[in-house]
Amino acid sequence: MLSRRQLLTGTAAAAGLAVACQRRSRTGRVVATIVAAVPGRDGAGVALRRSLGSRALPLLDPFLMLDEIHSAEPADYEAGFPTHPHRGFETVSYVLRGGFAHADSVGNHGLIADGGAQWMTAGRGIVHSEMPQPTATREVWGLQLWVNLPAARKMIAPRYQDLGAAAIPTIDVADARVRVVAGAVGRARGPVDGIDVAPTMLDVTVPAGATFALALPGGHAACAYVLDGAVALGATGAAVNAGQLAVLTPGDELRATSATGGRCLVLAAAPIGEPVARRGPFVMTTEAELDQAVADYRAGRLAA
Ligand code: CO
Repeated sequence: MLSRRQLLTGTAAAAGLAVACQRRSRTGRVVATIVAAVPGRDGAGVALRRSLGSRALPLLDPFLMLDEIHSAEPADYEAGFPTHPHRGFETVSYVLRGGFAHADSVGNHGLIADGGAQWMTAGRGIVHSEMPQPTATREVWGLQLWVNLPAARKMIAPRYQDLGAAAIPTIDVADARVRVVAGAVGRARGPVDGIDVAPTMLDVTVPAGATFALALPGGHAACAYVLDGAVALGATGAAVNAGQLAVLTPGDELRATSATGGRCLVLAAAPIGEPVARRGPFVMTTEAELDQAVADYRAGRLAA
């Protein structure tokens, strides 16, 4: 017969085993909602497709906006995004083809080239321009993502993380090819660092017939935007087509497959859980802070 002490030890060991098993079994995310990107124009008249930040999906905390620009018609993009301000959040540019020339009012400038990214923390304010640079076949294909900052961090100093294509690790997960811009997949870690919401940003290419699973931080808000082809996402294999964004339920694993091949951007980050007040290029917590941002911009205080 077991003593009480042995019984307790046995129970504790069994409980420990149960915890270990729970840790090993992953909770699969499934598709909660699918939102179609809405065509529109922004900047000085750039044609784009907005998925996040549209009327159907105004916010996926902490993600504020996702725009795709894709055209081989100069009239769709050549007006660009001339000088404009930002305050209170981060803008992320990711170039799939062509490039974006970037310049700000304090002399920072550069080209975000094919396969590269720029993670720009606007913080207390920047004034900049972003001008599309087409390929030899006049094509421009890029994304702009807006990521919020917590209220206590909205007025930090601006910061740029400029990432050339070579800085972004590319790894194979089963048959899928994954570019890790931010976050970690296995031992591959994206070059973006020190961002409050601990983002994951992956560019995933899924060949026809491929099936794979990615680990994602369980409590993070997550979505996948299909850039090309079609991808079946989550345990239920919901079909998501190019130009559609799938919001994912909580869970620590994303399964995906594709019958005909596809490519998607996978985003995940910790929700901030604070009020969001937005007006054009400013994202703050209150209307009064927005009024202050407008006044500061008009007084030239964002450009220094
Ligand atoms: Co901008």
